[in-house]
Amino acid sequence: MAKYKIAVLPGDGVGKDVVEAAMMVLKKIEFHAQYVEGDIGWEFWCQEGNPLPERTIQLLKETDACLFGAITSKPKEDADKELDPLLKGKEFSYFSPIVRLRQEFDLYTNLRPCKAYPGNPLNYRDDIDLVIFRENTEGMYAGVEWHPVPDEVKKAFSIHPKMKKFMDVPNKDMAVSTRIMTRKACTRIVKKAFDYARENKRKSVTMVEKPNVLRETGGFMLDIARKISGEYEDVEFWETNVDAMAMWLVKNPQDYSVLVAENLFGDIISDLSAQLVGGLGFACSGNIGDDYAVFEPTHGSAPKYDGMYKVNPTAMLLAVKMMFDWLGEDEKAERLEQAIAEVIKEGKVRTYDLGGTSSTLDMAQAVADKL
Ligand code: IPM
Ligand code: MG
Repeated sequence: MAKYKIAVLPGDGVGKDVVEAAMMVLKKIEFHAQYVEGDIGWEFWCQEGNPLPERTIQLLKETDACLFGAITSKPKEDADKELDPLLKGKEFSYFSPIVRLRQEFDLYTNLRPCKAYPGNPLNYRDDIDLVIFRENTEGMYAGVEWHPVPDEVKKAFSIHPKMKKFMDVPNKDMAVSTRIMTRKACTRIVKKAFDYARENKRKSVTMVEKPNVLRETGGFMLDIARKISGEYEDVEFWETNVDAMAMWLVKNPQDYSVLVAENLFGDIISDLSAQLVGGLGFACSGNIGDDYAVFEPTHGSAPKYDGMYKVNPTAMLLAVKMMFDWLGEDEKAERLEQAIAEVIKEGKVRTYDLGGTSSTLDMAQAVADKL
């Protein structure tokens, strides 16, 4: 009898390859689960005008957690071009299914560990061990944006003195995206970061913002974080502007431990941090809510490697490890991480990004063999 029901969403391109790699490892580690595969991605946009069909959302609701591969997104013009001719002109518009999933299931924590595993030839330094808490439901990703900008929006914004110079700009000649931050979301992500730091005996939590310019949203987040930091006297609280953070992460990444940031800033610093420990082939991401979670590699679908079993599955395998952590399967989490670390350290089986010629499944097999 399976203990868990896990949704599996391979998606597009190399998403399929790395999910296959994950299944090999899951089988070997004797994780007793029933797996249900769901539809997501580009082909469903083209055929149905919806890259995240309602049936997939329903399927996720009946499972304990989800493993997600990767999806292909294309700019608006290309997306419209590839839509089924029968659906064209019917108000279908492409959206990012992963962003939608995060919001639909209120998966407010995006947890992104970036750790330098010993022996990884791509490590920028060997002593990096960062954990990023990215707010995952709002901020610049709130999705409240316009182009062209409707008169009503311009009118509403006109109460702000700085809006004056934009009032005469033709609606079609401007675009607006809003950065919406709520006390609820800021509070819960900062608390998650501090709780994690406390539980894992981490030295510091760094708030990454830009309150000197984004005075309202950035200042609001910082104010909340400062107050919360007072409840955690065992953890140091540091504040850094996002631009300076980019510089410090290159200069002294080993000094930082837990980082917490708004959605877009978290998106950016997590790619930078991923590159410090080997690039997107090593970067995993947990989208975690109060009672559901989706685990994914941070990389995209890499269409040029579609079906070639070329990419490094480590990010996906580390996402599986995160799923074990979240499910409370601590022994499996530890065993899997150790197996991955050993394969990296031995350096016998290496995908192209590591300078080798092994395939995605070779690497997964090597990890499975260690279990
Ligand atoms: C990520 C990705 C996504 C994001 C894209 C694929 C929508 O970059 O998970 O970091 O922007 O969040
Ligand atoms: Mg990103």
